[in-house]
Amino acid sequence: MKEFNHIAIIGSGLMGCGLAQAFAYSKNCQVQIFSRATPPAEIFERVETNLRPLVDKGVFSANEVASIKTRITPTNNLADAVRKADFIVECVAEDMEIKQNLFRDLEPLTRPDTVYATNTSVMSPTEIAAKTSRKDRVVGAHFWNPPYLIPLVEVVKAAETSEATMDYTMELLRQVGKRPIRVNKDVPGFVANRLQHALWREAISIVERGIADAATVDEAIKTSFGMRLPQLAPMENSDLAGLDLTLQIHSYILKHLENSTEPSPLLQEKVAKGELGFKSNGKGWREWTPESMATCKRELSEYLIKVIYGK
Ligand SMILES: NC(=O)c1ccc[n+]([C@@H]2O[C@H](COP(=O)([O-])OP(=O)(O)OC[C@H]3O[C@@H](n4cnc5c(N)ncnc54)[C@H](O)[C@@H]3O)[C@@H](O)[C@H]2O)c1
Repeated sequence: MKEFNHIAIIGSGLMGCGLAQAFAYSKNCQVQIFSRATPPAEIFERVETNLRPLVDKGVFSANEVASIKTRITPTNNLADAVRKADFIVECVAEDMEIKQNLFRDLEPLTRPDTVYATNTSVMSPTEIAAKTSRKDRVVGAHFWNPPYLIPLVEVVKAAETSEATMDYTMELLRQVGKRPIRVNKDVPGFVANRLQHALWREAISIVERGIADAATVDEAIKTSFGMRLPQLAPMENSDLAGLDLTLQIHSYILKHLENSTEPSPLLQEKVAKGELGFKSNGKGWREWTPESMATCKRELSEYLIKVIYGK
């Protein structure tokens, strides 16, 4: 594993800027960020906005912010962005053809050993690799928002990803302070979104069936297993409680849980009525005011900084 890595981020939206920042935390990375039109000043402005709560809490000093910024070079020239790259992460729009064409177009611009990672949320890295001949160098690297805070990165083995590509990606991400996990199969939702949306499906179903309202569902999670999840996740918990007990519980309860393969009718109805949550004046599952929406976002950021950095 090389000690120093040249990173190229393609796309300067929400994830692109956040990822450039996340890699630039490491003194052993130099990051090029490619944008078609965003001026460099705007990219630095986004990074500074992201860093502000971390500076306020004392995670980074002003000097550290300055050196993080020196490790980020914005460019509007794709060839310049990727020429030296060891590792490229594409963060362009969630569109199969755009991603496939990008990886094809990178080939003549990059070294033969450059790794092409896709930050797709839900699409198949195997399919994204379809138009490049360097399929062994293509890997899924699913970062979570905000990527400059959340440690997890799901490293997804596509059909032809080599072991060397998997190992390099895992090691690089560890080196920059992330918590990469290895996903052995390219399946929809990878690992974490499969788990997350199994819970969301049941949460919505409980509301839909009138068992409890939305606020109560959230409270039940936050005051019980949600509290202990960071310390005791399901597989550990099952070991602790006993697999025999897990079997007994599942034998009784699984047939009663939501197993629909379609989105909930109530969810569809709310979306059709324009009740989208924060983006529709706060009307969603619950009623939010401008103040409670701002508080929710601020408290999430403060909470994450506390659990990740202890500040
Ligand atoms: N937003 C999230 O929470 C999240 C989380 C994990 C993964 N992702 C994935 O990350 C990717 C980017 O998402 P985002 O939220 O940053 O989107 P975004 O809309 O904020 O940014 C996308 C950027 O890509 C640029 N772009 C589009 N086509 C391009 C092209 N052909 N070449 C270069 N740049 C191009 C756009 O101009 C824009 O700046 C998507 O694949 C998304 O699914 C998003």
